[in-house]
Amino acid sequence: MKPTTPPRTYQVKSFGCQMNVYDGERMAELLAEKGIAPAPDGEEADLVVLNTCHIREKAAEKVYSDIGRLAKAGTETGRKPLIAVAGCVAQAEGEEIMARAPDVSMVVGPQAYHRLPGMIDKAVSGERATDTDMPADAKFAALPPRYSGRRKSAPSAFLTIQEGCDKFCTYCVVPYTRGAEISRPYSQLVDEARKLVEAGAKEITLLGQNVSAWSGEDDKGHPIGMAGLIRALAKLPDLARIRYTTSHPADMDDALIETHGEVEKLMPYLHLPVQSGNDRVLKAMNRSHTAESYLRLLERFRTARPDLALSGDFIVGFPGETEAEFEDTLKIVDEVRYAQAYSFKYSPRPGTPAATMEGQVAKEIMDDRLQRLQARLNRDQLAFNKASVGKTCEVLVERKGKHPGQWLGKSPWLQSVWFKGEAAIGDLVEVELVEAGPNSLQGEI
Ligand code: SAH
Ligand code: SF4
Ligand code: F3S
Repeated sequence: MKPTTPPRTYQVKSFGCQMNVYDGERMAELLAEKGIAPAPDGEEADLVVLNTCHIREKAAEKVYSDIGRLAKAGTETGRKPLIAVAGCVAQAEGEEIMARAPDVSMVVGPQAYHRLPGMIDKAVSGERATDTDMPADAKFAALPPRYSGRRKSAPSAFLTIQEGCDKFCTYCVVPYTRGAEISRPYSQLVDEARKLVEAGAKEITLLGQNVSAWSGEDDKGHPIGMAGLIRALAKLPDLARIRYTTSHPADMDDALIETHGEVEKLMPYLHLPVQSGNDRVLKAMNRSHTAESYLRLLERFRTARPDLALSGDFIVGFPGETEAEFEDTLKIVDEVRYAQAYSFKYSPRPGTPAATMEGQVAKEIMDDRLQRLQARLNRDQLAFNKASVGKTCEVLVERKGKHPGQWLGKSPWLQSVWFKGEAAIGDLVEVELVEAGPNSLQGEI
């Protein structure tokens, strides 16, 4: 590649899960430290970071079309941006990207992005570089502290506390792209949470691929788990709300269940993916729960916190899934009545055991199953929202609406709520919920 002038502006585009978004924010902070400014809206940046996701084929393919578009725009304007591919596709297909996309000058994996600034210097001097080192510990120790006074946090912030996955569900790439489970140390997390709150965060969502597998030691050296961490963070006076995601049913302990009943700042919302309602399929997926054990676990959470809103993830068309097995998934949905859910067609991922299993399900069958499943999930989401009408609750204001005086915020149950009146971003406003739609509610102060 030809040497080029150092970039003055950047854009980070995140395509994946919440942890991918968190990584995107940390990369943006690194670039800001290096004196590179965010590109103004609508302007092409000198440096574009594509922060990619590998979870399903559609997500992964996006990166190549994006690279093509950026390179073409650069040729037309005569100013080609430096392109960095980060995230889980970078980890999984780093070498392929380098070979297939000559316009890319940097490939950096999710556990190596703390070294992005050095890679930019190389790229400016005309050298291409790939860094997909693991594990994650080194990254967190090397990243600069958050929000060193210059920038403000959004009212709702993410905080990665745990990373990686040792569960090896047979369909999933995450154990390969993110590596083994690690827990960030307690003191580092309390410190980062404090910084976020000082920068204006009112709500913190604790993130992990298996967030409830977090473990550590408190200041006195006593071993603690998620429950202990949540209780410690709840003591930060200006932090109003705590959430966490995503959990695996295998890591939910009594202490965490109790915390839902006792810690007021812990919001009444639980995202607990089940994937399928059929035990044969669950076993083939290498999920360690059965439909029955999952339902019993939810019962314990609901006993501790009766108004808990439940959310889940589903995969339809896992290899070998029969119509009757799929109907078991519909059954579990009817039983749980989720307030929110994410459902996907199975996507075979290179290198995972399920990709070569017999009985891959035809696309038309998957389409049909997904439609039927989503019809039920939508029904339940609307019913949950309708049942909230008449309640008064606190809404955390996240942004302005289109109309004058209109605001958008989140209820404790993570519903989007629109309302009008005196407010500011970051306020917690008492709102009466007066009207419900499938994706949002109307409220009145
Ligand atoms: N760690 C979390 C989430 C992982 S990825 C968990 O275990 O629940 C988010 C969701 O993507 C998964 O819950 C699953 O529903 C879906 N997913 C993962 N791999 C997939 C694949 N190969 N095809 C379709 N959906 C997939
Ligand atoms: Fe993937 Fe399973 Fe790990 Fe979740 S628990 S990240 S679905 S392997
Ligand atoms: Fe995607 Fe990686 Fe997250 S594959 S879902 S960005 S962990």
